[in-house]
Amino acid sequence: MRVLIAFQAESRSNAKVAGTLRQEFEKMGWQTEVHPVLAKKSKKWFHHMKEFRKKKKIELKEGQMDAKKFDLVVVGTPVWTYKPTPLMTTFLREMQNTKGKNFALFVTCVGFPGTTIKTMSSILTTKAAKVADSLVLRSIFELDEKKLAFAKEFAKNLAVEALSPAAED
Ligand SMILES: Cc1cc2nc3c(=O)[nH]c(=O)nc-3n(C[C@H](O)[C@H](O)[C@H](O)COP(=O)(O)O)c2cc1C
Repeated sequence: MRVLIAFQAESRSNAKVAGTLRQEFEKMGWQTEVHPVLAKKSKKWFHHMKEFRKKKKIELKEGQMDAKKFDLVVVGTPVWTYKPTPLMTTFLREMQNTKGKNFALFVTCVGFPGTTIKTMSSILTTKAAKVADSLVLRSIFELDEKKLAFAKEFAKNLAVEALSPAAED
């Protein structure tokens, strides 16, 4: 299995979840690529929001990603105003070769994910991708081992889902 884990680079909680998932996937013998997503120009969150409202996108530092060589793509975002961040929304919208691909989503927030998963899923559905599973991690503090145990469980469940016959249609 070849897996891509993409997440908002400047989010500590996203990075922690991505690191935990990577460890679990590698234990399973999956080839894992981690892609911290950055904007071309680093800005404060409110500038990103403003730019996104105007242009409907944020320029990505490394440009569009191609899903072609991966069997599973995991995408993470912090929740900003009940939605995925402008950066990760752009990343999802611009991703190439998503048709028929399996995706898994994770979001981190203080407690109110709103429509984040739904918004990400509908972008992917429009791009003919499949969403195998999603995880919402809520915490007002930095994610600790107890919270990260949910990420470990999520990775194990994905292994079951990815290896099940239904995932191969
Ligand atoms: C601009 C902004 C908007 C946010 N909106 C929400 C929200 O709607 N719901 C929520 O539960 N948390 C919200 N948060 C909290 C973040 O989701 C939370 O701080 C993040 O997931 C924790 O990771 P990080 O700070 O390491 O990125 C918001 C944070 C910021 C900066």
